[in-house]
Amino acid sequence: MKADLREEIIEAIDIVDYIGEAVNLRRRGVNFVGLCPFHQEKTPSFTVSPEKKIFKCFGCGKSGNVITFAIEYYGLTYHEALKELAKRAGIRYEPLTEKAKEELTKRDRILQALEYAKKYYQKVLYTQSGNVALAYLANRGYTKATIAEFEIGYAPSGWDNLLKELTSAGFSKEILLEAGLIKQKEHSPNEFYDLFRERIMFPIYNHSGKVVGFGGRILKEVENQPKYLNSPQTDLFDKSKLLFGLFKGRNEIRAKESVILVEGYADVIALHQAGFKNAIASCGTSLTEEQLNQIARYCKTIYIAYDGDEAGQKATERAIQLALPLGFEVLIVKLIENEDPDSIVKKYGAKAFHNLLDNAKSFLQYLYELAQSKSILTRPAQKSKFIHYCLHLISTIPDKLQHIEFVQELADLLSLPYSQLETLLKEKSKLEKEKVESAENIAKPDFSINITKQELELEEEQLISICLEFPEAFDLLKIKKFHSEHMITENGKLLFSILENHYGKDILNNILIDPEVPQEKKDYFVNLVLSKEKLSERWEKFGFDREEKDTGKILEDVYTKFNVKKIDLTVKELRKKMVEDPANQEQYLKKMQEELRRKQKLLNFLRR
Ligand code: CTP
Ligand code: MN
Repeated sequence: MKADLREEIIEAIDIVDYIGEAVNLRRRGVNFVGLCPFHQEKTPSFTVSPEKKIFKCFGCGKSGNVITFAIEYYGLTYHEALKELAKRAGIRYEPLTEKAKEELTKRDRILQALEYAKKYYQKVLYTQSGNVALAYLANRGYTKATIAEFEIGYAPSGWDNLLKELTSAGFSKEILLEAGLIKQKEHSPNEFYDLFRERIMFPIYNHSGKVVGFGGRILKEVENQPKYLNSPQTDLFDKSKLLFGLFKGRNEIRAKESVILVEGYADVIALHQAGFKNAIASCGTSLTEEQLNQIARYCKTIYIAYDGDEAGQKATERAIQLALPLGFEVLIVKLIENEDPDSIVKKYGAKAFHNLLDNAKSFLQYLYELAQSKSILTRPAQKSKFIHYCLHLISTIPDKLQHIEFVQELADLLSLPYSQLETLLKEKSKLEKEKVESAENIAKPDFSINITKQELELEEEQLISICLEFPEAFDLLKIKKFHSEHMITENGKLLFSILENHYGKDILNNILIDPEVPQEKKDYFVNLVLSKEKLSERWEKFGFDREEKDTGKILEDVYTKFNVKKIDLTVKELRKKMVEDPANQEQYLKKMQEELRRKQKLLNFLRR
């Protein structure tokens, strides 16, 4: 891939225009702001800089340029993103030649392997060896249409059916291994076998509809074999971010403005078939905040329909705790004992499940009934704990108006005076606000150096900052024969060498489009350029005149301060040595005086 294509794209596309199609942006100063599409928020902290051609969210920290946005927001692969953006910019994007095909990124290749495997499993389901699986599915009540819609397949018995099929289709073992489709034999490292055998295969899609993994259900439950076997965790198949049914149901979720959260694959499929196409499940893990953020892109109401057993109760409580602070309305569906949504629609029909949804309870009502069933409310100490817990949950809801409603509801449930609970809540909110504020003070100081917690001297950061800001400053440093090895800390050396390696018209974007640069470093640079404070204000903090326009002068000052810092550190080091190595004290002292004289000169220069 030619780097110039990416540069051209970034140069040609108006980032405000492009992101503006997905996010409502308002001008604020030289930048534009809007509600972040990557996390749930009420006040805009998502910032787009048309001048720098980058975006950054000060809430969740996500940052990048138009290419990153296309990948992260629209779920495109790298190549798809370039293709689409090139088209938009009217730049010719060379279609892939045979050779370029080989160079397709590994990620694309893994996705292709997974897609191929999906098709293979689907095909097998309708062959002789798939008969037993097809009968099983029919017996569970899944229609042909459902099987096709969910692209359900079957992994036959035998150790290397898929392996053979995919290697003869041109996939390397390395790719299949990384796709989580095969495993290495324990004692012979060059031999491999199919991970999924004799299992019903449910493809799992990411948020853009690509198959990224599978859940495989055993046909007959046997001991020592897990009922469900999932693809191993990889970057592509990250269970903490995926939700089964979300992609398929996304339009329905938008239309119904809600999701039904269930425990299992079977539940999602059965509910979809029964007309509840907004049912989703986390893939055998407990719900995460990342999953909730995915949901938040489509709706604000969650019906939790987990099993009523102990594990289901725990999972429900966790979901409540996570979802309330994100502003979700949380309703809990009480299922019929010993049944799950799948078995309910099968035994009692869709109507019955509809009734259950209609009778879903608020989280307070749910917790109250749970507490009652555990006889918690008859014991004063436990009852008090329960009330505090409920008030705590209420206090995490971002919309303060709802606090009134829920406190009223809690008061009604417990037959307590509203005012008493309200006072308690206010105390709690005050305490928590203080906690949050002090946490914010620690987490968000003035300089991004502390935000990213990198080992870096302030003076080094100033040098990096000025090079990012003014390319000519970089040229001046080169004239001074300054290079990364002259930085102070290891991290400073690394960061500066990244600058050196991406030198050009737009250093920052050159860095952002380089897949070799770790994301945390990219974030660091973006933070530096697009910090909440205006650059001029930052310069002022560094001790510069905010009206100063002369890059040469700013650089001289920054560079001088940098050198002063270096001298200070050397002197400190010499002091230490004088103590450790008294025999050579004389020499150290001489060197130290020399350094201090140099420092004096530099300070005089700064006072010019
Ligand atoms: N699960 C898993 N590994 C297991 C068991 C369960 O990953 N060994 C996950 C699966 O995602 C499954 C969910 O947990 O869908 C719920 O499990 P369970 O309630 O046991 O299964 P059901 O969904 O009811 O599946 P079925 O009706 O096919 O028995
Ligand atoms: Mn089930």
